[in-house]
Amino acid sequence: MEFLDKIYKRWNTLDPRVRLVVEQLVQKIPLSKAVRNVPFLQKMVDEEFAKLLQKVDQPNPHLEDIPSFLELPNEGLASTLVLTSLAKLALSEQQRWSDGYASGAVYHGDPDHIQLLNKVYSLFSQTNPLHTDLWPSITKFEAEIVAMTAKMLGSEWTDDSICGSVSSGGTESILLAMKVYRDWAREERGIENPEMIVPITAHAAFDKASQFLGMRKVMVPVDDEYQASVVAIRKAVNKNTAVIVASAPSFPHGIIDPIPDLASLASERGINLHVDACIGGFVLPWLRDEYAFPPFDFALKGVTSISVDTHKFGYASKGSSVILYRGKNLRHYQYFVTTDWPGGLYASPTLAGSRSGALIAQCWAAMVAMGQEGYRSAALKIADTARSIKEGISHIPHLRVLGQPLFIIAFASDTLDIFSIMGAMTEKGWSLNGLHRPDCVHICITLRHTQAGVAERFLRDLEDAVFQVEKNPQRQAGMAPIYGMASSIPARGLVGELLKRYLDSLYKN
Ligand SMILES: Cc1ncc(COP(=O)(O)O)c(C=O)c1O
Repeated sequence: MEFLDKIYKRWNTLDPRVRLVVEQLVQKIPLSKAVRNVPFLQKMVDEEFAKLLQKVDQPNPHLEDIPSFLELPNEGLASTLVLTSLAKLALSEQQRWSDGYASGAVYHGDPDHIQLLNKVYSLFSQTNPLHTDLWPSITKFEAEIVAMTAKMLGSEWTDDSICGSVSSGGTESILLAMKVYRDWAREERGIENPEMIVPITAHAAFDKASQFLGMRKVMVPVDDEYQASVVAIRKAVNKNTAVIVASAPSFPHGIIDPIPDLASLASERGINLHVDACIGGFVLPWLRDEYAFPPFDFALKGVTSISVDTHKFGYASKGSSVILYRGKNLRHYQYFVTTDWPGGLYASPTLAGSRSGALIAQCWAAMVAMGQEGYRSAALKIADTARSIKEGISHIPHLRVLGQPLFIIAFASDTLDIFSIMGAMTEKGWSLNGLHRPDCVHICITLRHTQAGVAERFLRDLEDAVFQVEKNPQRQAGMAPIYGMASSIPARGLVGELLKRYLDSLYKN
């Protein structure tokens, strides 16, 4: 800890221009590999990482009441025993999210809504859309989820047919779209190495897609308002560009990119524009009359695909998202078909083979139970609560809100360590998101925060957290040490190694 702490402190005192140059140089050195080859360095890094990870590894007393299994029990447990211990565990984890202490995470959360989803899940728990003959109901639900989502996102404003699929989540929807554009570019444009142009604020899923698909990603900056720079994107377009990516809004700062300009650019250059509306797709359409923001959906000719998550503000349980395309031709690049397998003629629309029909059924149920009026009223409540939280933050000394967000509010401090403030909030029970480049924290407002008194409690706690850090700037809690360090260590390979150790630590018994 002391070793990394010293580097971290010294590093932070350097001129930002020097830091940038060093960072670029260090990127080029395969540092983790170099460390691996020098035993004493490896030992030192191992020890430092172990100490850091210990800091964030909070023992959970509730888990101790539940029996542990490192091998299958000899005899199966009685179902009453399984159910009672799991019910106790679930209850012990419920209060924080239910009382609105979490950023995002659970987007609806009212007991009646949850009960409906659970009942529908149990009705269809054995279903699999791969077997269309056994469960035509699931095929119908999937087709209707796609149709309802497409209508909400502008299919009626275009003559093109908008089609799509239900996937397992935002990341899968994004992976599928990028695969479509990679294969489209190869097949229809003869581009051997297709590229995606990605603003730095777009979700990490695009980086994942780039790594998984072996597709080059060209990163472009955002402007002072955290919107993708159209000028930079225009410059980045080249003969290999298959797709431009935009967010509506972005995960980090909740900002909608200049999608009309990007749609025109994409049309002009005959390339594709993917709009990532994973988090905003079920909110923005219902705010058009009351809040001013430019169009972002299929009403714009240049928009060729949209990812939109039913398991976020669509209020379905986790495990579903929709990927929409302008025209069946694009969707064909998503499908997997094989004709020579001894297992039979095989076709599946998304990444998975078998899928849970129950998740599709409960997604359909969530959508029809909410209806247009349900979504509109939820979106208005969320935007209204977000407005008062944004306003409240702007009155707290030392803090400032980044850009002009609608319902994801990122805030930073020019005078205090924002991660220490986040740590002090963690100690008060809050689960917020730490972000970097620039260092900031965000809260994604959900229906949980629209409950009486939650916004006021958030602002009171935040003001007190700032006061505590002002009094004692050295004190760090929660994930603060990890975020603080990770945001400023120039050796990204080492930070990546730390993240892998963190993932390993989740599998320890
Ligand atoms: C804008 C955006 N895109 C993509 C994703 C990825 O979604 P998922 O976590 O469902 O894979 C998120 C998640 O928060 C998001 O906010």
